[in-house]
Amino acid sequence: MSVRARLTALYATLFLAAGGVLLGVSYWLVARHFERTLREEVASGVLADLRGQYLLALVGTTIVAVALGWIVAGRVLRPLAEITQTARRVSTDRLDERIALGGPQDELRELADTFDSMLDSLGGAFASQRRFVANASHELRTPLTVLRAEVDVTLADPDASVAELRAMGETVREATAEAEQLLDSLLVLARSEAGIERRAAVDLEAAAGRAVEATATEARVRGVAVRVEGEPVVVDGDPRLLERLVGNLVENAVRHNEEGGWALVRVGLAPSGEAEVAVENTGAPVPEVAAQRLLEPFQRLARRGDGPPGAGLGLSIVRSVAEAHGGSVELAPRAGGGLRVAVRWPISRSRAASAAPRAADSPIPAAART
Ligand SMILES: Nc1ncnc2c1ncn2[C@@H]1O[C@H](COP(=O)(O)OP(=O)(O)OP(=O)(O)O)[C@@H](O)[C@H]1O
Ligand SMILES: [Mg+2]
Repeated sequence: MSVRARLTALYATLFLAAGGVLLGVSYWLVARHFERTLREEVASGVLADLRGQYLLALVGTTIVAVALGWIVAGRVLRPLAEITQTARRVSTDRLDERIALGGPQDELRELADTFDSMLDSLGGAFASQRRFVANASHELRTPLTVLRAEVDVTLADPDASVAELRAMGETVREATAEAEQLLDSLLVLARSEAGIERRAAVDLEAAAGRAVEATATEARVRGVAVRVEGEPVVVDGDPRLLERLVGNLVENAVRHNEEGGWALVRVGLAPSGEAEVAVENTGAPVPEVAAQRLLEPFQRLARRGDGPPGAGLGLSIVRSVAEAHGGSVELAPRAGGGLRVAVRWPISRSRAASAAPRAADSPIPAAART
């Protein structure tokens, strides 16, 4: 039974009940009056007539009530039909459909508006997904094109020397490593977006130490002085993902730096009581507007080819991992150039309490831990 029919039936039943009660009371009052004023035979004759008329009136008005109920229910439910039709028309390819229901700001309008804004955000999500796939394919094609061209050129020369073949091997190896790196980043990003698989206590300070060690050679080559400051802070989370987060921040601070610059990695509790890893570094000035989009995938300040290597996935992995752990990323250009990126996440009370005393009696002076 449709909602329209149910509403009509409900309306008619209520009308019938109310009408019945009203006529019943009226009949009882009239009957009492007649009993007192008329003779019994006359009274019963008049009352019999009245009963027939009342019944007829009740049946008649009920039929009218059913008809009116049907029409009114139809009008009230019409927006619902519109919503249903739009929902039916919407598909992945046609996310631009909107209900755009006019009329008063009532519950149905609210439903339609909610549906429309859901379509807005779905549309946005699909568009960014498409952009992401396009960017990923483009990025992946670049090393493959290099690879192919290198092999083609060398094979076209029948007298290629061993040295030339070796040079080709080197380039092929570099291009393969680049593609591998990109795929690895894409996998990490997908994994972090899927949520946390494993949970363990992760010491962020130790992770920062390992990240600094891993970039030591690159830092030396670029003449960047790296320093770690802080206290052991332990958060619950996926060790591999958190390690990657810290690693990406430190790698960026070294890689996107300037000759003779510095990078400072600070691990500790933020004033808000959250665990924090903040990485600050010198470098070229970063415009404020450009800074905000760096957390999106495939966004770089330098054009591809100029500047240090990288696909532009590092910071989006940072954000995705932070959010998977209930944290947030704050990114701000430094006044004199370079960037400051801070990641904060909630920390359980027991862990915060156990972290503080250990920090105080840490045997290594903070400044020496590089
Ligand atoms: N610490 C930093 N200082 C200055 N610029 C930075 C810093 N971190 C990131 N950037 C800028 O933001 C861009 C995006 O960084 P992101 O880590 O996402 O990608 P990437 O380092 O280019 O590549 P990869 O995927 O290898 O990390 C960088 O290309 C760089 O221009
Ligand atoms: Mg990076």
